Amino acid sequence: MRNSVNPLLAARAAAVPPSATAALDAHAKALVAAGVSVVNLTSGEPAFPTVEPAARAAERAIAEDFTRYTPAAGIPELRAAIAAHLNRHGTVYDASEVVVAAGAKQALHYAFTALLDPGDEVLVPAPYWVSYPHLIALAGGTLVPIHPAPASGLKVTPEQVRAAATDRTKVLLLNSPANPSGVVYNRYELAALAEVAVELDLVIVSDEICDHWVFGDARFTSVAALGPEVAARTVTIGGVSKTFAMTGWRIGWLAGPTALVSAVTALQSHTASAPSSIAQRAALGALTAELGPELERRRSELDARRLTTIKALTGLPGVRVAGEPEGAFFLLADVSGLYGKTYGDRTIDSAAAFAELLLSEANVAVVPGADFAAPDHVRISYTVPPEQLAEALDRVARFVSALS
Ligand SMILES: Cc1ncc(COP(=O)(O)O)c(C=O)c1O
Repeated sequence: MRNSVNPLLAARAAAVPPSATAALDAHAKALVAAGVSVVNLTSGEPAFPTVEPAARAAERAIAEDFTRYTPAAGIPELRAAIAAHLNRHGTVYDASEVVVAAGAKQALHYAFTALLDPGDEVLVPAPYWVSYPHLIALAGGTLVPIHPAPASGLKVTPEQVRAAATDRTKVLLLNSPANPSGVVYNRYELAALAEVAVELDLVIVSDEICDHWVFGDARFTSVAALGPEVAARTVTIGGVSKTFAMTGWRIGWLAGPTALVSAVTALQSHTASAPSSIAQRAALGALTAELGPELERRRSELDARRLTTIKALTGLPGVRVAGEPEGAFFLLADVSGLYGKTYGDRTIDSAAAFAELLLSEANVAVVPGADFAAPDHVRISYTVPPEQLAEALDRVARFVSALS
């Protein structure tokens, strides 16, 4: 039967809306193109340049004509470098347990496709990244959200995971540091969640794309480092996008049990063949260079922006920073305290209305949280350069104080 949205499209495609983040980003960019001075706090990427060794390695790859199909799982040197990179966090991955993909997003797509049968349930702590529902649905699975209790700092508990599980539950998805909240689970919290996964025989998909971006006293924990029993059921997702400011190079990875690695390699061989040979060399350049001091410098710059943002928002009546944003480069601001307030003849009755007014009246773009399962919030990406951030926060403060 033809679907009713558009008879051209399969129901599977018709059910996938464009990303809300991308739509807002596009709106903000259109305003900029029209000459409006918009500060864009919607971005999903750190505002740093690609690390130097990556760019040089790509140039060398082109000069050497390293421009052919690579093995479907990725070039062996890169798989080995990824395993070594992951193992800094206490995992014991071998290169043979790694598949290189066109970004963490593609790796997640392969993982869900390889893991889920129709109707299999994936438990996902909310708020969650906008692409998870669609990646899971495309693979035939069903997302089951777990909503944290109000005073929990936006973290779910082992009891909540146990309560949400059914006999159709196959996967527990974890994402720490988290997009959109910036919340970082500590080692004990993750160990307790992983213990439930072991007890209920669930696969853990751990999206660790923001592993580098952890601030203050918080420490990153890789789930597969929590012991052999956990590692045996964990699929680790990551990539070079966020750590090395390489979002456009499209290199990510998946590491996990060999049966899954083989299945994903086969999937990739028939869909993408392999990721770009040049981008793989660039990622290898980034992973094998001595970048410690540079990455540390970037981390402290981003931390300063995080603290500035938290301080500015905390002082605003009606706005509340949700949870403790200790990682990634986002935070969620709860704006429900502004509901009922007006700007001119417009009333703020939702986070979407707040974001819309903030963009049109104060020229600051933020993402409304509805698609992140955070309906009363907006996501603020504080990665922009300090002058722009200061300007944006000033505009937000002036906008909020102009509400009546
Ligand atoms: C939580 C999360 N996972 C995965 C990705 C995808 O990253 P990549 O650029 O490697 O596809 C993103 C990017 O925004 C993300 O925020």
